[in-house]
This record gives sequence, structure tokens and C-alpha cells, in this order.
Amino acid sequence: MCVADRSVISPMKALILAGGAGTRLRPITHTSAKQLVPVANKPILFYGIEAMVSAGITEIGVIVGDTRAEVMAALGDGSQWGAQITFIPQDAPLGLAHCVLIARDFLGDDDFVMYLGDNLLEQDLGAFVRAFESARASSEPPTAQILLKQVPDPHRFGIAELDANGNVVHLVEKPADPPTDLALVGVYLFDRTINTAVREIKPSGRGELEITDAIQWLVDQGHRVRCELLTGWWIDTGKLTPLLEANRLLLEVIEPRIDGDVDSESSVDGRVVVEAGAVVRNSTLRGPLVIGANAIITDSFIGPYSAIGNGCEVVHSEIEHSVIMERSRIIDIPRLEDSLIGKEAEVVRSGRKPRALRLMIGDHCQIDTE
Ligand code: G1P
Repeated sequence: MCVADRSVISPMKALILAGGAGTRLRPITHTSAKQLVPVANKPILFYGIEAMVSAGITEIGVIVGDTRAEVMAALGDGSQWGAQITFIPQDAPLGLAHCVLIARDFLGDDDFVMYLGDNLLEQDLGAFVRAFESARASSEPPTAQILLKQVPDPHRFGIAELDANGNVVHLVEKPADPPTDLALVGVYLFDRTINTAVREIKPSGRGELEITDAIQWLVDQGHRVRCELLTGWWIDTGKLTPLLEANRLLLEVIEPRIDGDVDSESSVDGRVVVEAGAVVRNSTLRGPLVIGANAIITDSFIGPYSAIGNGCEVVHSEIEHSVIMERSRIIDIPRLEDSLIGKEAEVVRSGRKPRALRLMIGDHCQIDTE
């Protein structure tokens, strides 16, 4: 039977992993799901869902962990994207291959994309998915396809070695002495053989069932594992610096749009989005930046690469290269930069000494810089 028939009978599914605790984004993640931290005012996880839907995949399983209530409330049944979402609870973070193991009922025997929910990619994944589908119709069908990117710090990732024909021959998770600089990007394609692989492997030194080991098992069993090199940017957003970088890269391509109310005393320069209901008074907005719905910006300078969340209030302050989550207040701060501010937080200055602040503060915090 040909691939065209296969895809009619069982379309490809997606498995999005959104179970992680986000320890490297504390304190934000003490109270909020890391997958829902916004970049360019949209939760990180939404980009993954959108990437799947635009690749033509609408049957999506989402692995959820401790933050499941918040993630489930934000995603709903998936109808806001025209998708059908099935939530699969993971009780402990036992590894990426463990996610495949517990998703067995959802996956059935179908091909699927596995997507790590905290990864952000510039590249559209449609071509990556289609390349797998057409390779599956070839005389040497692969059972898996991985996406690789050259990185300067390969010891932080799963790393691949290729043979002269570009086939994957060896994979190793976070090696102390990396054999190559080709990192595994958090997007994988599998056929049903992976369901056997994840049952065959043993937990790694960090006590997790590694997807890297499961793919190595496929190679060792003589299965073909294809790879593609990623050309655009890719960010694993788990920490503050990459999160701010993702925010910067996404704001750089945002479509300018002023739906809010900007008075004539204010100036708007560059790529700027002001959402409906936002009010900007006597302020300078120098993009790329986004001001969320119902935010109030008064007597302030909002500089490049700032994402001000819905319902925030910024008064007599200067902000640059920062993510301010919804309903927070920044009052009388001479300069706030490179910062991530949680929801409903308050940063105020009651003293007079001007200073620049670099902060990562959690939801509901109150900071007085006196
Ligand atoms: C995981 C994978 C690793 C991959 C990385 C991509 O690492 O284990 O192979 O390169 O995602 O983001 P983790 O982020 O769980 O440390």
C-alpha cells in the first residue's frame, strides 16, 4: 500500500511535551507553568501547537505534569487552533522516552512528530514532515527522522554522529567530550517502531528514559534514521537568557499594528504592536515591541525588544529588552532591562537615587527600590 493511502487512513499525529517543571526559570515557575511564559506576548507552548497545525497535523497529544491544570486551561480542547487535543498526564519527569511510553494509547501505530514544548524554531516544520513522509515511501524507509543544528556548546544537548552518506550512526546525550557539534533539536519524527524502542532501553545516569537512547536503539537494530540540518534559529527557552533572545527574535518579525489608543504627545517608532484597549500617554515606543491589551503606559520610554503583557501599568519608567507578564505594575523605575517580571508583580521606586535594574521576579512579588 502506498504512502498516500496510509496518510488517508491514519494521518500523522503530534506529541507535544509540556510536563517539565521549569526549575531553571524559578521563581516564575513556582507559581506559573514554564510552558505558558509568554514570548512576544504569546505563551511559548502556543508556538508549538501552531507549528503542528501549520504542518497539517491536528491530532495532538500533550504530555502534562505538575502544571497540568494551568496548561489544560490555556489549551482547552484545541478548537481555538482547529485541532483536537488529548492530555496525557505524566506523574514524574522520567524522561522524553517515558513520554512516548505513556502516550501509547493515544499514538496507536501511527507516525508522529514529537515536539518539546519549550523549543522555539524559526523554520516552518511542514517541509520537515513532508520529507519524512516521502522518505517513508522510498525503498529504504526510515523509522525516524531527527533535526540537527550546529551549536557552540554541544555538551548541553543530545549529539549526533553521521556517516559519509549523512545517515545517523551514533547518538549521545550531553557528552562531556562531544564527538561533533550537531545537536538534536527538540523535534523528532517516528513511526511505530519507537514504541518498541522505548520499552527496550534502560534509564540513563540521570535516571531518565532518554529519547536519544531510544533512537540509538533503532540504529543498533539496523533501522534507518534520517536527519535534516536546521537552517533557521532554534532556541531551547528553559532559561532567562534564551527566553529573552527568543522574545527578541520573534519581535523582530512582528507585523506592526496600532489597535490601542496612542495620544499625540507620544511617539511610535519601528515595529510596534499596541493591542486593543491599551492606552499610551506622553510616552515613546521604540520597537520592536508589543504592548498588550488594556495596558496603560504613561510618561514612559518602552525600548526595543520589550513585551508588555495585557493589563500592565507602566508609569514614568524606562524599559528595554524585557518581558513583563500580565497585570504587573512598573512605577518610577529609571531603567529596567534584560528582565523577566512575573504576573501581577509590582516594581516601584520610592527613593530618589536613579539606577538600572535587571530582574527576574516571580508572580505577585513587590519590589521597592528605595
Ligand atoms: C532534551 C534532549 C536533548 C536535546 C534537547 C533539545 O534535553 O534530551 O537530546 O538536544 O532536549 O532541547 P533537555 O532539554 O531535556 O535537557
